[in-house]
Amino acid sequence: MKTIAVFAIKGGVGKTATAVNLAYASATQSARRTLLWDLDGQGAATFTLRLAAAPGQSARKLFAADAALDALIQPSAYPRLDVLAADKSLRHLDRAYAADSARRLKKMLKSFDRDYDRVILDCPPGLTTLAEEVFRAVDLIVVPLLPSPLSERAYEQLQSHLTKHHKKGPPLLPVWTMVDRRRALHKATVDAVPDRVAIPYAVAVEAMAVHQAPVAATAPHGPAARGFNRLWAEVEAALR
Ligand SMILES: Nc1ncnc2c1ncn2[C@@H]1O[C@H](COP(=O)(O)OP(=O)(O)OP(=O)(O)O)[C@@H](O)[C@H]1O
Ligand SMILES: [Mg+2]
Repeated sequence: MKTIAVFAIKGGVGKTATAVNLAYASATQSARRTLLWDLDGQGAATFTLRLAAAPGQSARKLFAADAALDALIQPSAYPRLDVLAADKSLRHLDRAYAADSARRLKKMLKSFDRDYDRVILDCPPGLTTLAEEVFRAVDLIVVPLLPSPLSERAYEQLQSHLTKHHKKGPPLLPVWTMVDRRRALHKATVDAVPDRVAIPYAVAVEAMAVHQAPVAATAPHGPAARGFNRLWAEVEAALR
């Protein structure tokens, strides 16, 4: 089993869109038994896959010592793709962690080892206590970046944070998101790093919240779906 976090310091950069579409690519393109864990209390990834938190589910219970995680996992509408839904109480998780942190996320992830080949975490933005737990626990961090010099700066900040505080931490895989090549700044920024996958700005991605489905399920041949498939291939290559 390998674990992949989709993380960025900044909000609204396409983390959830990336996490949902990578999870779908994992389950379909690679036929991996895949778990998408929605770690953001806003629950956008959960909603996008037409799910909701199980009744009575709460982050505190989830992170309690002997939590039965399997019972909280729900199947999605797609083969091999399961979801651990978010609930609002995740917002308070940081306080719980600040009081008592013992690498529990890593232990919890280990408990999925038998049932899943790939676990993908949709993280909330920011260098929070939860983020530090994620950095200690995962095999790879996918970092969505908007094509602007400010994003590159945020990316460098994340790199230096990991170098300083997580010396044996996971590698980073950056990806451009919401790229509009008609905009000079986007084009110049993206073309300056030709090896990095670029997900185009696409109505099909925006419409994920309406259709409540991954882009590859609604517009499989569009440029966004192709971009996410290419990104997934890079994720698989980086995990080898
Ligand atoms: N490639 C894209 N093309 C068009 N719209 C996009 C694309 N990627 C994301 N969006 C839209 O941009 C908004 C933010 O995307 P998303 O929710 O994935 O970001 P996020 O980083 O998860 O945000 P948050 O920090 O709030 O969790 C959403 O409305 C989403 O539909
Ligand atoms: Mg999100």
